[in-house]
Amino acid sequence: MTLSALVNPTVLTQPVYEPGKPIEDVARELGLDPAGIIKLASNENPLGPSPLAIEAAKKALTQGELYPDGGCFALRQKLAARHSLAPEQFVVGNGSNEILELLGHVFLRPGDEVVMGSPAFIVYKLVALLFGARPVEVPLVNHRHDLAALARAVTPRTKIVFLPSPNNPTGTANTEAEILAFVRSLPEHVVFAFDEAYAEFLDNPPDIRPLIAEGRKVVGLRTFSKIYGLASLRVGYGYASPELAGLLNRVRQPFNVNAIGQAAALAALDDDAFVARTRATNSAGLRQLEEGFAARKLEWVPSAANFLLVKVGDGARGFVELQKRGVIVRPMKPYGMPEWLRVTVGTEAQNARFLAALDAFLAGVG
Ligand SMILES: Cc1ncc(COP(=O)(O)O)c(C=O)c1O
Repeated sequence: MTLSALVNPTVLTQPVYEPGKPIEDVARELGLDPAGIIKLASNENPLGPSPLAIEAAKKALTQGELYPDGGCFALRQKLAARHSLAPEQFVVGNGSNEILELLGHVFLRPGDEVVMGSPAFIVYKLVALLFGARPVEVPLVNHRHDLAALARAVTPRTKIVFLPSPNNPTGTANTEAEILAFVRSLPEHVVFAFDEAYAEFLDNPPDIRPLIAEGRKVVGLRTFSKIYGLASLRVGYGYASPELAGLLNRVRQPFNVNAIGQAAALAALDDDAFVARTRATNSAGLRQLEEGFAARKLEWVPSAANFLLVKVGDGARGFVELQKRGVIVRPMKPYGMPEWLRVTVGTEAQNARFLAALDAFLAGVG
């Protein structure tokens, strides 16, 4: 008997997530010095982690022989205080990606439907497929989620609706009023998953806590990977009613979040100055890139997050040519936008390098 005959058929057809290309891969493939390569491909923080988080992570490493606190007690306490919710309303994950998968474990069965925008974060679709559910993709309008169209896509089979705001890859956001009205219009059998990976880049992030207080089936998802600069440590969290958070906690692995990540996340929450510095760097970088695109007469999508979509013609080729100049961006073909690149906002110097590399590509030098 072949191995594949034994395999759950959903696994055989499961698409594989394509991450941003690592610096080491580009260095190896092109014979470049990794120190000279910049990665603007995964919406990471160009300032690195907060110095307080680095200190805390180093300290936690000295106790690396001990299992972490599987319940993330201290982190949930701090998050609860920050969000004015109770600690039992939180679930901490190995990145918010893990919480997306936990939602699948808790709610999805073969034949269910999962409603999402397109293009949106690809993991929603992967999670749906992994659990044998059907992704129902609703086209964005002007690169923005069309909540009325999402509502129309809901059927008696719908289990989860995913909404990222700001959205990845478009950077567009929906307003709090729109979102609250949309969720209040959803039928009772639907869980609303609000992906707030980039919420801290907004001046006034939508507040879904009133929906939780009303007893609605909603979960907010946040991450330490973006504004807090801790992507490599893999810490994200969900908040919801105690009942929903309890279900998500029930299906996670006992020690899903490592102690170094927990310590770094706790410290990062204390470093408001670092978050403010990141926001300021990002706002200035968005302006720098937008001015750069305007000067080059390139089309872009105005962004509320820490990345921008720009139309360059042949995105796949641009991706390759920019790498030769030590700049890694994200080609958008997997998101159905082959003419576009997504670039993470970097430091002023990194943005300038990206624009120079883009010029060389557009001039056909590459
Ligand atoms: C919209 C969105 N949600 C979730 C994630 C996952 O982040 P993490 O698993 O690092 O918390 C990302 C990462 O790029 C994202 O863009």
